Amino acid sequence: MSGKKRVGVLISGRGSNLQALLDAHGQPDYPAQIVRVISNIPDVLGLERAHKAGVPTAVIPHKNYPDRESFERAVNAQLEADGVEIVCLAGFMRVLTEYFVKSWNGRLINIHPSLLPLFKGLHTHERALEEGVRFAGCTVHFVVPEMDSGPIIVQAAVPVLPGDTPDLLAARVLEQEHVVYPLALALVAQGRTRIEKGIVHLTGTVPAASALVNPKGFALE
Ligand code: GRF
Repeated sequence: MSGKKRVGVLISGRGSNLQALLDAHGQPDYPAQIVRVISNIPDVLGLERAHKAGVPTAVIPHKNYPDRESFERAVNAQLEADGVEIVCLAGFMRVLTEYFVKSWNGRLINIHPSLLPLFKGLHTHERALEEGVRFAGCTVHFVVPEMDSGPIIVQAAVPVLPGDTPDLLAARVLEQEHVVYPLALALVAQGRTRIEKGIVHLTGTVPAASALVNPKGFALE
């Protein structure tokens, strides 16, 4: 276990991304270990997933606090008590104040279901379909005070297909979220991300990538 970075995951719901992180953390060579899952909502599926994986949980209901910052101070106290070094937001539905974001500067990451900087905020898949983009996707990024901004660590693109609905597209994107989040956390935990002027530079061997085209394979008429 020693040498693994201690990670806290903040959730508000079903926790499928949490599950992907738990699956990765169960692997012997994975460089991060989830030591605490915190939910601001009681009885969510994500808490059950953590229990099944034997990871300690805490429920800290935001409604019990008079303002955002006092809620965040309670979350922070728990993370500090657990010796957490990196915080992952995984479907955590609270906007964080500058206080919290700055406390975890460079150690706080989030997953967003779009190819940022496109489609910040909610209803990303509906908006992608309305715009007629040929690719949608997801982004893991460091968190900065401005919402859904911040240095990009990993992205995955998926094609938008004829007949797509927001739900179909969301499912296609979610499958990739479960791939890129464990990858991004591993890169951060291994200290392979260096942020310079808002850009993440990766160190070590970075494989070459090839172009994606959608639609592809049309015979020209
Ligand atoms: C994901 O689509 C994630 O990108 C977004 O919220 C959703 C959470 O899903 N931030 P889950 O709780 O991880 O299943």
